[in-house]
Amino acid sequence: MARDAFVILGCGWIARRHAEAARRLGIPLIFASRDEGRARAYAREFRGIAAFGSYRAALADPRAVATIVCTPHDRHVADALDAFAAGRHALVEKPIARTLDEADRMLDAARSAGRVLMVGENFRFMPAFRHVRALLSAKALGPLREVHLVARGFRRQTGWRLSSSAAGGGALIDGGIHYVHALRWWGGEVRRVFALSPPRMLADLGGEDSISLLAALEGGVVGFVSNSLATPGVPKLQWATLTGERGAGFADNRGRFVVTRVEGRVRVRVFRRDVRGHELQLRRFREAIDSGTPPESDGVSGRRDLEVVLAAYRSLAERQPVDLEG
Ligand SMILES: NC(=O)c1ccc[n+]([C@@H]2O[C@H](COP(=O)([O-])OP(=O)(O)OC[C@H]3O[C@@H](n4cnc5c(N)ncnc54)[C@H](OP(=O)(O)O)[C@@H]3O)[C@@H](O)[C@H]2O)c1
Repeated sequence: MARDAFVILGCGWIARRHAEAARRLGIPLIFASRDEGRARAYAREFRGIAAFGSYRAALADPRAVATIVCTPHDRHVADALDAFAAGRHALVEKPIARTLDEADRMLDAARSAGRVLMVGENFRFMPAFRHVRALLSAKALGPLREVHLVARGFRRQTGWRLSSSAAGGGALIDGGIHYVHALRWWGGEVRRVFALSPPRMLADLGGEDSISLLAALEGGVVGFVSNSLATPGVPKLQWATLTGERGAGFADNRGRFVVTRVEGRVRVRVFRRDVRGHELQLRRFREAIDSGTPPESDGVSGRRDLEVVLAAYRSLAERQPVDLEG
């Protein structure tokens, strides 16, 4: 029997994105939900090979090689540990976990089991964001000076996201962590952060609804991330800005285009395939399993993203900059 199926744990929103990508890549899928009926409905919709009303029973299916953990943040550690105990590799949705202690338990368990732990940081696999990384590596903008990532809009959260204990925080640990990752990946490791939040506007949200953080990156680059769920009226089209000594780059946050303007010359690149990077992410997960080498966006990288988020939260609480160790 081929052991090549991926088990999707939790049939919610992101599970659909993974299921669509896996179907396009021909990866067999097993669906697990707390509600067997929902697992069956997903299996029907995405042509899964099995459906279970128990996560552990699904992980024990002999056809499974790996799992994609698509559950709320407070479940990531337990679900990943169950996967490793069952001998499966795990792609865990971002954030890796809510605390560094949880992340360390996941990293230790993956190491002991000899299994891959990847974090679902799909921004890393978006063609537009990879194009930016390539431009920076080629020094196309000249030496980099500043990276600004702005992701602001209005969204009322529901369900588990309202609980800061289930989510581990508010905006930044959820959607915002993608921009923290891009900041590190493009600009270099974060050495110091200072964060501020305006008074809360979304009263039912346990964590912060808006946050801006200023970061000192290695090599002297200055980073800025502004992330908000409580900013009505801003345009849906938003982009990240990279400034170098010779010119600037603008990357659409949704990955549809990158514009550069270097010494007066404007270049536009448009991206249409796998714009959100879900297919490449799954391909890289599969390659890591097959080769036994850590993937990009591995558990260590996911832990570092979380460390920056938690440093920003500490900065909010202590009202002062927070240094991060190298
Ligand atoms: N990479 C991205 O762009 C992206 C985008 C959105 C979300 N995410 C991440 O993906 C994960 C899931 O987010 P989501 O938006 O898909 O959430 P969601 O729609 O609420 O789905 C989460 C699923 O987890 C399962 N679950 C298990 N225990 C639960 C509990 N106590 N309360 C609620 N649900 C529970 C549920 O599935 P069953 O009932 O079927 O078991 C639920 O449908 C999070 O880590 C999130 O940060 C990533």
